Amino acid sequence: MTARIIDGNALSAQVRGQLAERAAALSSRGITPCLAVLLVGEDPASAVYVRNKVAACEKAGVRSLKDVYPPDVDPAVVFARIAELNADPAVHGILVQLPLPKHFDAEAVLEAIAPEKDVDGFHAENVGALMQGNPRFIPCTPYGVMKMLESVAAPLKGAEVVVVGRSNIVGKPMAMLLLAQSCTVTICHSQTRDLAFHTRRADILIAAVGRERMITGDMIKPGATVIDVGMNRFSSGPNAGKLCGDVDFDSAKEVAGAISPVPGGVGPMTITMLLANTLEAAERKASGETK
Ligand code: GUN
Repeated sequence: MTARIIDGNALSAQVRGQLAERAAALSSRGITPCLAVLLVGEDPASAVYVRNKVAACEKAGVRSLKDVYPPDVDPAVVFARIAELNADPAVHGILVQLPLPKHFDAEAVLEAIAPEKDVDGFHAENVGALMQGNPRFIPCTPYGVMKMLESVAAPLKGAEVVVVGRSNIVGKPMAMLLLAQSCTVTICHSQTRDLAFHTRRADILIAAVGRERMITGDMIKPGATVIDVGMNRFSSGPNAGKLCGDVDFDSAKEVAGAISPVPGGVGPMTITMLLANTLEAAERKASGETK
């Protein structure tokens, strides 16, 4: 049996339709939601992500500001800009694209963003709120994954979920969100002794490691829902240089019940949920919430 494909582009289009209505409602009150994006350095993947984020804003009726800094910029310049954006009442969301160059203290940069404008949900205060089961902003990629699971009605209560990857951006917040839905969550990582032992038990498998096609069909439980967060490139073969995920799609789709592809899976959903968080920030400000 071949798996159902979880189409991130189609789901994004559906969610963005709902977001357009929210943007229009704000606009009718004279409010233009606004996202500021800061990119430091010349990482080509980051440049593409930022370009896609800014383009998505434009289509969704969200104003965007984009600041690009050279890789050797003095961190004080970036901190000063964040302070300015924090104080600007017309700016609702602030995002600093990661990774930052090595001479930056990334944690300090994230802490400098006003928590009520932290649409990535990376500020310690927002991470704490998520951990306590009372999120203010849900990090965009895990938020998108939750929407994808909802779209295929994957049963969550009591489900065995395996998250492969323990990053602050995906793995950890993903586990918290699934735990809040009463899943039994296992987090695997580079030091996990027998990865396949864990993945084969998973009703829901989330791959977020950043290693080309490391999850193969034989590591998947028949009928499982598989979400591929990886964004890698084929290192060899006829598709060398093209995008691929952490999951070997061809073998996995023969075993899984539902699976998200790369590209066209999690990627578009991440950007959609960034728009959702920006609108949320603007709506909260409009309703007088300060926090
Ligand atoms: N780099 C990779 N993913 C992300 C993300 O979701 N937000 C930010 N700010 N940087 C990233």
